[in-house]
Amino acid sequence: MTQSATAQLSPAAFTPSAMALDDALLARARASLSRLPLDIDRLRPSFIASALTRRCISLGLAQTADYLQFIDNVAPGQGEWQQLLHELTVHDSWFFRHPPSLRCLQYLLSEHFSGSQALHLWSVGCANGEETWTLAMVVAESLRIAGTDRHWRLTGSDLSKVCLQQASAGIYRRSQLQSIDSDLRRRYFRNLDPQRMQVADELRRHAGFTQVDITRGGFADAGVHVAYCQNLLIYLADDARRCALENLAASLVPGGFLLLAPGETRDWLPPGLRRLREGGVELFQRKW
Ligand SMILES: C[S@@+](CC[C@H](N)C(=O)[O-])C[C@H]1O[C@@H](n2cnc3c(N)ncnc32)[C@H](O)[C@@H]1O
Repeated sequence: MTQSATAQLSPAAFTPSAMALDDALLARARASLSRLPLDIDRLRPSFIASALTRRCISLGLAQTADYLQFIDNVAPGQGEWQQLLHELTVHDSWFFRHPPSLRCLQYLLSEHFSGSQALHLWSVGCANGEETWTLAMVVAESLRIAGTDRHWRLTGSDLSKVCLQQASAGIYRRSQLQSIDSDLRRRYFRNLDPQRMQVADELRRHAGFTQVDITRGGFADAGVHVAYCQNLLIYLADDARRCALENLAASLVPGGFLLLAPGETRDWLPPGLRRLREGGVELFQRKW
């Protein structure tokens, strides 16, 4: 398709049937998308079709075939591949999502890491930052209540660079902050405009965000005291899930903890970890 032809197309010109994937196009799409660090064969055709449709609309392309031709000529890892990766992953998240795990984190902070050493926490598959900033509030509150001042840092990582930008900015609509206790909201967010608030510098100075594919490699900066990885492993095939768990285990300091969401390991225990499952929490500790 020529540039002038694409420029004339508006999103309104699209109909769902125009973007349907027949078997041949689906096979072609899967072949192109196999360059992404995703298990493309596990993705439903309708999910792939919707993602490709959204990218076509964004770029003003009329047909999925045009998009596949376009993306095949973009260098891997570059802008459009990042957008597509974002469209092909699920980013649902909210603040204070799993209270039992957060209470467990509070307990770990007070009982296992009560000394003065610097702490490193890792929010793995952090989506748009809701989880990372939740963890930041839990740590900051634990230290405030204990009356201790110590160094701590929090890394948020995700596959999607689009997510990481949002997470790092820490800007949310007020409606997204409703699950946060009002005192915490006042303490750790500042008003940005009538609709939005931003995470306060007091938390932001402790946090950094980086792109990590947890199935393909570890986290370069290991030495993690608590890795928090929830609602990510469920999207992975068994092999990828095992790689991810091994990478998570390897990132921990001896005695460090891993908190998954309930049921995410399918009872497979990564080497070097012991399971401490209690009270609806999926907790592991790296052996010394
Ligand atoms: C459903 S969200 C969960 C967000 C948050 N952890 C929570 O529980 O609310 C899953 C996140 O995992 C990310 N993700 C998926 N596969 C990944 C991988 N292989 N490595 C790192 N992040 C991944 C997705 O981009 C998405 O943002």
